[in-house]
Amino acid sequence: MPTNRRTILVTSALPYANGSIHLGHMLEYIQTDIWVRFQKQNGHQCVYVCADDAHGTAIMLRAESLGITPEALIADVKAEHQSDFNGFHIGFDHYSSTHTEANKYYSELIYNRVKNAGGIAVRTISQLFDPEKQLFLADRYVKGQCPKCGVDDQYGDNCEACGATYQASELKNPKSTLSGATPILKDSEHLFFELGQHTDFLREWTRSGRLQPEVANKLTEWIDGGLKSWDISRDAPYFGFEVPDHPGTYFYVWLDAPIGYMGAFREWCDANQFDFDVVWGPDSDAEVYHFIGKDIVNFHCLFWPAMLQQAGFRTPTGVNVHGFVTVDGRKMSKSRGTFIKARTYLDHLDPEYLRYYFATKLSARVEDIDLSLEDFVQKVNSDLVGKLVNIASRTAGFIHKKFDGQLASTLANPELVTRIQAKAPQIQAAFEAREFSKATRDIMALADEVNAWIAEVAPWQLAKSDDTLAAVQPICTTALNAFRILVMYLQPVMPMLASKVAQFLNVQSLGYDTLDQILVNHTIRPYDALITRIEIRDVEAMIQPDETASAPMQQISDKANTESEAIAPECSIDDFAKVDLRVAKIVAAAPVEGADKLLRLTLDIGGGVTRQVFSGIKAAYQPEDLVGRLTVMIANLAPRKMKFGLSEGMVLAAGPGGKEIYLLEPDTGATPGQRIR
Ligand code: 2FM
Ligand code: ZN
Repeated sequence: MPTNRRTILVTSALPYANGSIHLGHMLEYIQTDIWVRFQKQNGHQCVYVCADDAHGTAIMLRAESLGITPEALIADVKAEHQSDFNGFHIGFDHYSSTHTEANKYYSELIYNRVKNAGGIAVRTISQLFDPEKQLFLADRYVKGQCPKCGVDDQYGDNCEACGATYQASELKNPKSTLSGATPILKDSEHLFFELGQHTDFLREWTRSGRLQPEVANKLTEWIDGGLKSWDISRDAPYFGFEVPDHPGTYFYVWLDAPIGYMGAFREWCDANQFDFDVVWGPDSDAEVYHFIGKDIVNFHCLFWPAMLQQAGFRTPTGVNVHGFVTVDGRKMSKSRGTFIKARTYLDHLDPEYLRYYFATKLSARVEDIDLSLEDFVQKVNSDLVGKLVNIASRTAGFIHKKFDGQLASTLANPELVTRIQAKAPQIQAAFEAREFSKATRDIMALADEVNAWIAEVAPWQLAKSDDTLAAVQPICTTALNAFRILVMYLQPVMPMLASKVAQFLNVQSLGYDTLDQILVNHTIRPYDALITRIEIRDVEAMIQPDETASAPMQQISDKANTESEAIAPECSIDDFAKVDLRVAKIVAAAPVEGADKLLRLTLDIGGGVTRQVFSGIKAAYQPEDLVGRLTVMIANLAPRKMKFGLSEGMVLAAGPGGKEIYLLEPDTGATPGQRIR
């Protein structure tokens, strides 16, 4: 055990209990798990908890549409999530749900303490209400005409055509996407967390070295812009916890979600006789780290520390933010088959390939991570099979065939092993700092060195003659000792490989406390292939476009949290025939000055005709990625004069909006100008 044994609580963001885990999520769980395993390997007390994020309207509606209770839905989804996480060897110490007694307890406790400290305001607000479903409508459940430009079919928060932002109640001809009914305005009392009271605290907290510089800078911008109060309540019916002193009012899902970290930890404490306050008490000297994606920084770095502080708890030691996953340089897409679910991956490939690949890309910065499929295959085969495992596969056979499984009593090259051991502080520092790409680079550079030495001394040559055979044993012993240390370094990334290697080398563990051991006069076990090459056909089999991808609202999104959209009123075939849909090629795409959401697209629709269209897809696409792609446009839509120029048509896309927009793409073979029927 280390003399400076740390107590560390680590969390990953809680996945919503209404969708499957995909590789975008897995980046975070893999990143966190590597860091946690590294701490445990060093003998620290590190507890990793997580839970399903089980509350909210979307989950309530989905359960209703499936004809089951929300409790049954969240139980099913939780089981699926846990099996996916197990498949990727994510070693949670406890996996819970936000729908638990422990979480209810801490949600009420924090609310009451914040309220008693004067941190909650009660205000009556007026919101759109669906009289048929008897439900207040969140912005994503209302559509209508933009109050600014008049374009139809816009959500209740902003217009994808002109970029205007507004209140849902300002939409013209609003309709509930749940029932098609016209919503009415209705008043209700809501509870607000007065974030502005915490401006000075947050200014200081966000600059206290707990956050990555780019995150701290963003937060300073927000703080400078003024912190608004945060609506922490929702009206019944809602699947969540009812606010103790406000019957009919529920805590908003985002209130009890981070508190779910505490709820889950509390359950772990109860099962392990551990004092909760050692970690969460105001004077705790334990460490708490949250790993999250860049889209939920405001919840974790503003609301959460402010509430904790006001409620008399300690605040996190650090919030570690990562970027998003792209596949082959593009946003994951169902139609391209790159929206890869964790289970789909596991059906085709070894999880440790992905753990290693993500590790080679991860740093402490908030950068998007590209899973380039070709690079993935190449890196796994060349680093893991060609370099690392190669060390053992070239030398273990001799120990078994010629020396009865016995390692020599001395090393042929002790300096090589010492040099590898001496790299430990550097590699450990990289893991500690979440610079996993640096750690894996350093490890592979050492593997290169070992392979170069083996090639130079060529044990296979020496084994050919009885005169030189004796030299083979210390050579292979050196190689296997080097191998043991390299696998020890890589253990947080590849725990299964490490445990197979511990077996094979006949050692108890690959903890850092065994770094200085040298295996001599020691019997090893028979060598079995430790890892096999990835075949490109396995990757191709995994990337099968999903046939259901065109159903616009069916994508499982971790952010949109949407429910199926109601089918629009019937239209006749004649109505449909009026719409002239054409295959169009995007020949140019550029941002539009003064418009946050728009791209200006130049479309080739065949016969030498080009059209200019403004499209609200900027959050979803990089303009340069669109050039050259085919899509579908309405060619006979009446042209519309916009502030930026004339829009001569409309391109077709699916999805709830924002980043979740998927441009329609015809199958290969289609050419610009072809009419769609
Ligand atoms: O963004 C999401 O997917 C949320 N379910 C994350 C919650 S993290 C924490 F605050 F609970
Ligand atoms: Zn508009």
